[in-house]
Amino acid sequence: MTVESRIQKLREDIRKHDYLYYVEARPVISDREFDALLRELEDLEQQHPELITSDSPTQRVSGEPISSFVTVAHTPPMLSLANTYSRQEVEDFGRRVQKGLEGAPAQYVCELKYDGVALSLLYENGLLVRAATRGDGERGDDITHNVRTIRSVPLSIAHKAPLQVRGEVYMLNSDFIELNRIALESGEKPYANPRNTTAGTLKQKDAREVAKRSLRFVAYWTDLRETDGPGSSGNHYNSIEHLKSLGFPVCNEMQLCADIDAVLAYINEWDEKRDTLGFQIDGVVIKVNNIRQQRELGSVARSPRWAIAFKYEAKKALTQLLNITLQVGRTGVVTPVAELDPVLLAGSTISRATLHNEDFVHELDLRIGDTVEIEKGGEVIPKVNRVILEERKKGAVEWHMPTTCPCHYHSPLHRPVGEANWYCEHGNCPWQIRRRLQHFASRDAMDIDGLGEKAIDQFVDAGLIGNVADVYDLPGKRDAIISLDRWAPKSYDKLVSGINRSKEQPFARVLFALGIRFVGEGVAKILAKAFKNIDALSKASAEQLTNVGEIGDRIAESVIEFFSNPSEREIINRLRKAGLNLAAEFESKTSNEFEGMTFVLTGELETMTRRDAEDLIESRGGKPAGSVSKKTTYVVAGANAGSKLQKAQELGVTILSEEDFKKML
Ligand code: IVH
Repeated sequence: MTVESRIQKLREDIRKHDYLYYVEARPVISDREFDALLRELEDLEQQHPELITSDSPTQRVSGEPISSFVTVAHTPPMLSLANTYSRQEVEDFGRRVQKGLEGAPAQYVCELKYDGVALSLLYENGLLVRAATRGDGERGDDITHNVRTIRSVPLSIAHKAPLQVRGEVYMLNSDFIELNRIALESGEKPYANPRNTTAGTLKQKDAREVAKRSLRFVAYWTDLRETDGPGSSGNHYNSIEHLKSLGFPVCNEMQLCADIDAVLAYINEWDEKRDTLGFQIDGVVIKVNNIRQQRELGSVARSPRWAIAFKYEAKKALTQLLNITLQVGRTGVVTPVAELDPVLLAGSTISRATLHNEDFVHELDLRIGDTVEIEKGGEVIPKVNRVILEERKKGAVEWHMPTTCPCHYHSPLHRPVGEANWYCEHGNCPWQIRRRLQHFASRDAMDIDGLGEKAIDQFVDAGLIGNVADVYDLPGKRDAIISLDRWAPKSYDKLVSGINRSKEQPFARVLFALGIRFVGEGVAKILAKAFKNIDALSKASAEQLTNVGEIGDRIAESVIEFFSNPSEREIINRLRKAGLNLAAEFESKTSNEFEGMTFVLTGELETMTRRDAEDLIESRGGKPAGSVSKKTTYVVAGANAGSKLQKAQELGVTILSEEDFKKML
């Protein structure tokens, strides 16, 4: 194969996998395999710079920040929608449509109303040439440099005629939460919500900053219908399906409705299920499906008559602030927490909300006893929005940041210059110790059954554990443990097997569990892959660390600081003796027994996560895949396996139970 055709093939594969990931939400390769493809392409392009094209997946981030935004015109203008909060008014909308169409039957399309930022894309000769904000609807800012970094926006499409695509840029709740966690840990101001964060990110002048945030795109309109080209199908639903086939993510919950009753059912359905989406919506958009009918209905004052937005009530509630307490994080950050009179909000009882830091409390002008408005959206943690000043009672008490830690050492708190956070710097602060242990034992880290928050509190209080290495000495302290309240030989046995099982966790998990500041799950995986074992990582210089893609100065500094601490080094030595994985298994392939075999996992596995199973397959030289074909060697079927199992039976592929699979290992 020539270099040119290899490059071509890599680009096609990367685009295909982006499509499967972002459009169809069913990746068939692991992140690791994807990174390897991208890396190979980067290397080849570096050796052959003459072969680089602007739409190559390696060319998403441009090097230089822009100096100012250029204004561009929108033709046709970007309309906005009439809003309503009332189901009655949705019915009125249906009647107006009927009247406008002189009684002709109309179908509706319902989509989710993404709570993000509107974006207009322009493609020419199959290439993304311009991306612009909505602005005032007539004119917006050219933000092409930033939008190119959004991996779900295709840089090239199989459609040569000029094409406009409009949609929404938004963030997943999980990405927002992670971003805020890092911001708070590093003493920065928290971001208010995913939408504002998205808007702020798109206004960056330096695309490299945008590339660091995980923004997403979803398409909801195209002018393709205006042309005679293929895909100009005469209705909105088909135009969206066509966008999907061109590689644009679209609203997967889109639904065709025969009448307004079906529309109302859709509204109710998503009102209930919106928390399960993983991103924020603020309502539902209802559109007349037929494009000819849309034209007939036309628009008034910048809003189409053929569409309406039904908005859900924001999830807000009023309650009383009973007290402000302090919470100490595992890195020593001390955060004020609002203790609230319990109130029901979006289906759960809220009695606490974070107040982030001292400045946040003062900016809100919060006093104990105040009536406050709290808000919750999706899975985002509840927050205090504002104080209802009219309700303030005489006795409301001003709050000042305490100067000592709530732990029994009462050590003085310290606020570094230029930071918003206060820190407890006592090395033995029991609160920090508890937090670190909780993190270490948590599900996403070492996942130690039997070592929950209560058990940790008890063990710390009884002096049985003081750091994460002590956890592995617990099995030798049977008598002390079973003499504690609520403990018995049976629960002790369970704890011991949980502790022993945790020794199987892969290196990346151990690294994450250690609780190094700024080393979340993703960063831990990157570091594990790049340095392969803890000795290499602990010796890495700042330069070696920042040479790894995605590792910035802040992470590098924190890693170096962690490993230069003698007590952390001592803990690592003890963990090594206890038998934890301190080297990446997959790099030093344990064996080749699965060489040339492809495995498809389906259904729910009982004793391991899908990720673990994939790691095990890869570590033996096999390949995990997402779909069953004649080439599949084995299908591992867990509980409730569906269509993949059926396909395997049809094709005569060998089917393994979880038990069979474990025996093979
Ligand atoms: S359609 C002419 N569909 O909601 C039709 N808009 O004023 C244009 N939005 O700022 C809009 N999700 O950015 C449409 N599925 C969806 C949407 C959506 C979110 C935003 C849009 C606009 C606002 C409506």
